[in-house]
Amino acid sequence: MNTSASNEKIKLTHYSHGLGCGCKIRPQYLEKILEGLPVSDDPDLLVGTGSKDDAAVYRINEHQAIVQTVDFFTPIVDDPYDFGAIAATNAISDIYAMGGKPLFALNIVAFPSKKLPASILDQILKGASDKAAEAGISIVGGHSIDDEEPKFGMTVTGIINPTRILKNNNAKVGDVLILTKPIGTGIISTAIRQEIATPESMEEAVGWMKTLNRDAAEILEQFPVNTCTDVTGFGLLGHLSEITIGSGVNAEIYYSKVPFMNSIKIFAEAGAVSGGTKGNYEYYSAWVEWDEKLDQIERYMLSDAQTSGGLLAAIPEDYSEKLLAALKNKGVHSASVIGKIVSSGNGKIITRK
Ligand code: CO
Ligand code: CO
Repeated sequence: MNTSASNEKIKLTHYSHGLGCGCKIRPQYLEKILEGLPVSDDPDLLVGTGSKDDAAVYRINEHQAIVQTVDFFTPIVDDPYDFGAIAATNAISDIYAMGGKPLFALNIVAFPSKKLPASILDQILKGASDKAAEAGISIVGGHSIDDEEPKFGMTVTGIINPTRILKNNNAKVGDVLILTKPIGTGIISTAIRQEIATPESMEEAVGWMKTLNRDAAEILEQFPVNTCTDVTGFGLLGHLSEITIGSGVNAEIYYSKVPFMNSIKIFAEAGAVSGGTKGNYEYYSAWVEWDEKLDQIERYMLSDAQTSGGLLAAIPEDYSEKLLAALKNKGVHSASVIGKIVSSGNGKIITRK
């Protein structure tokens, strides 16, 4: 069975119950569990479980802090090499979202070694190590277990200046919201699984999921960004609500300005909306004031569970034009202003068509 010919027929997503970050535990469920856990009062812990941030930050000295994250999930695509590359891109992203530089990574592997040939795992690890190399880091170890379902991810350690941490709870009234990648990986992945996606859209989504947030982060670092996070399993509105609730502000978001991947409306209308995306819609609607002109499909699009999505940053409006130009100049062509912080408040997101 261990030949590349048989690998061709293996559909990795058919071994998984949920797709990529879409397999995250529902936010409503997770919140209850985390509530009961103790919170650290170590003064050197600069970012911990007290905020809903992307990574933990621990101060080593006045100028240096460790930034550390962990991320892993079930296959989002059938190709094992791409799955490894996407999982690596996604895991490293949380370091960039905090404003840090990645240093090294360790693999987390769960693999059905009795059901799938070792060459599949080989390809997953190859995809990850190539992506890590692109980010300028090495994978220096890991841990693997035998499991019914393949899962892969990494823990990534980085370094950050303790005075320049980009937390997700510091947006200010008057900031504009900038998103660096288009939305749609959840809908397209679901369409792939339902076998209604076109090869073009498959390629588009995989291309975005394999795009490191490194270039975007490098540019953001040169501007007075107030807040940053990356858009993953809780979708655009979910991750934006972490910003608005944490910052004590209300935001406006313009549907027509949000960059979407091609054809996702058609796929969503055909039923390619995942359970994760519907869960996001139901949960985060409590904070969203829906524009009546947005139909159900458009609301799902704004709630779509992303895997390895772009950075979402808040920056004073005066800098937005310069920042957009710098991002585009660096090759981050889809970067767009998608909304703004309009008032102080309890985290409301007002949608406009
Ligand atoms: Co994140
Ligand atoms: Co993450």
